[in-house]
Amino acid sequence: MIRMIVDCDPGHDDAIALMLAHRWADVRAVTTVSGNAPLAATTENALLVMALLGADAPVYAGADRPLVAEARHATAVHGESGLEGARRFDHGRAVADGHAVDQLIALADADTWVVALGPLTNLALAIERDPSWPQRVAGISLMGGSTSFGNVTRVAEFNIWADPEAAARVFGCGANIIQCGLNLTHQLCTDGATTQRLSARGTAVASFAADILASLHERLRQLAGRDDAPLHDPCAVLALTHPHLMETASRAVSVELRGDLTRGMTVTDERTSRRRDAPNVNVAYRIDAERATDVVLEALLA
Ligand code: RIB
Ligand code: CA
Repeated sequence: MIRMIVDCDPGHDDAIALMLAHRWADVRAVTTVSGNAPLAATTENALLVMALLGADAPVYAGADRPLVAEARHATAVHGESGLEGARRFDHGRAVADGHAVDQLIALADADTWVVALGPLTNLALAIERDPSWPQRVAGISLMGGSTSFGNVTRVAEFNIWADPEAAARVFGCGANIIQCGLNLTHQLCTDGATTQRLSARGTAVASFAADILASLHERLRQLAGRDDAPLHDPCAVLALTHPHLMETASRAVSVELRGDLTRGMTVTDERTSRRRDAPNVNVAYRIDAERATDVVLEALLA
């Protein structure tokens, strides 16, 4: 099984990604970051999901704000708690001692991937503190950016937009990077039929997933007139656990820091001529959505 550390900001899709990782990977640790909601909320949500799964991996809290930008959250999508719709219970779990960044550094080894599902602040701090870190991990599979449209601005996706300076440091660090951007994640969506199947299953995990997805669908219905929800973060897990379901291509990708209209954009060099810039990222372009949905449901219905 793929060994991984999951850095996340739960977040509805982060929660589904943790369920996927629990089923299909060896999760050594979970690290949390401010993103969809403030750090205290994302950390509590991670503890809640790990308790629901009966998972042993420790949860370490990380950065409570971006490197430079002000802390901003995706409350409109995920609610004040960051996991609106979740049926909460007294899980009795506490966050593990130690800062997430120190743990990312301590746990780094050639067999361990870092799956980044939120703003890249923790990873950027790890690189700052230990410049050898990018070469000491197996690689980074991240949900973030896009080769085309954004979701916070015309061109910027939330995880990159929330901390562009951190993202620029990660994309430039030389690690083996897989990028699952919005161009890919919008190919993998859940809808009402999914939540009905999960509700009908009746297990604690399936019911929890049904509740949070129903809440997410309602928010996106109100905000965007959608009747489905892209499963953004699970794509970054699937890229490692089920790579045969995805098509990637080597690309040069940089993060725009200054543009009035484009700050937080991942700028992808898709030129095919010899003049193109040296690739630094494996960009995911296609996913077999039907088979990926089966893999996700197998984890949630288990
Ligand atoms: O833009 C989608 C990303 O932002 C996902 O990781 C979601 O959880 C939010 O963090
Ligand atoms: Ca996320």
